[in-house]
Amino acid sequence: MRIAFFSTHGFDRAFFDEANLARGLDLQYLDARLTPATAALARGCRAVCAFVHDQLDASVLDALRAGGTEMIALRSAGFNHVDLPHARELGLTVARVPAYSPHAVAEHTVALILSLNRKIHRAYARVREGNFALDGLLGFDMCGRTAGVVGTGKIGTIVARILLGFGCRVLAHDVAPSDACRAMGVEYVPLDDVWTRSDVITLHTPLTPETRHLIDAAAIARMRPGVMIVNTGRGALVDTPALIAGLKAGRIGHLGLDVYEEEEQLFFQDLSSHVIQDDVFARLLTFPNVLVTAHQAFFTQEALRAISEITLDNLAAFEQGRRSGNELC
Ligand code: NAI
Repeated sequence: MRIAFFSTHGFDRAFFDEANLARGLDLQYLDARLTPATAALARGCRAVCAFVHDQLDASVLDALRAGGTEMIALRSAGFNHVDLPHARELGLTVARVPAYSPHAVAEHTVALILSLNRKIHRAYARVREGNFALDGLLGFDMCGRTAGVVGTGKIGTIVARILLGFGCRVLAHDVAPSDACRAMGVEYVPLDDVWTRSDVITLHTPLTPETRHLIDAAAIARMRPGVMIVNTGRGALVDTPALIAGLKAGRIGHLGLDVYEEEEQLFFQDLSSHVIQDDVFARLLTFPNVLVTAHQAFFTQEALRAISEITLDNLAAFEQGRRSGNELC
């Protein structure tokens, strides 16, 4: 079975080649992002493997189906970029990697929180310039602070556990509260209480119509002055212009982002010799109290190994006419 792998990078190839040694699938690596213009590259491939920035809307699904594709293997947990009802209508099988390393994302979230708090990003640059002054680097003890975790699934639960370990009080909000979190000492509260009572707020829900722009101007207005907001979920969980307004007004004290609503145009490529055309993103980069990473929270050896193993298992199951259990349709 030929499989067209869109949006591949050197690191994908290394991990997938290793995982494929025992399986011998026909992997066709492509640099191109999957879009209406590139869908034809998959012609003749029974399966397509796609990542988070690949476009899987109705027009692309139609083009893939017309070219003979029957299965789409997402090498991600998130699937908000796939038109699943349309995939169902076309009779396509779509599978994902529901969990690969929630630790990777949770630990990166905490790295952002600690870096922002103790200004590690600024201290690193300063010390290299021979500037050993401490002004502007004042942080706060995490111990005793209140953290609000929105979404206590696989990732949010680990974030909550780490923050409890620091001595934080952890508030949480989830449509399906978890007994395991309650047993650890997490206190479930209405969303507005997360906004009004937290010193640090971190988002771990999927992107759905209900969670789109969960943090908007109204939510920011309810938050404690100087609040820290961290988003390693999906870019559109927050309204970025509202965050910028909150930063300019000094209401938001720290902002950490691993995801951005328009990140497809920016992330996973070297644009260091280009002029950034996205003015909203460019404005974010001007704040000393904003730390942006380019969707790297998942990026650990353990996670890449698990992604490649589970994705190839999903593909092999399809080829053998079995269900892997990771199908969305
Ligand atoms: P999960 O499915 O285990 O947990 C999600 C939690 O959100 C569930 O407990 C669910 O009940 C809750 N939830 C859903 N809708 C909600 C709502 N409207 N209000 C409150 N809670 C709601 O997912 P997991 O593995 O913890 O991942 C969370 C998200 O993290 C993914 O959907 C993905 O978008 C993002 N992610 C980001 C990565 C990165 O590299 N930055 C990598 C992997 C995932």
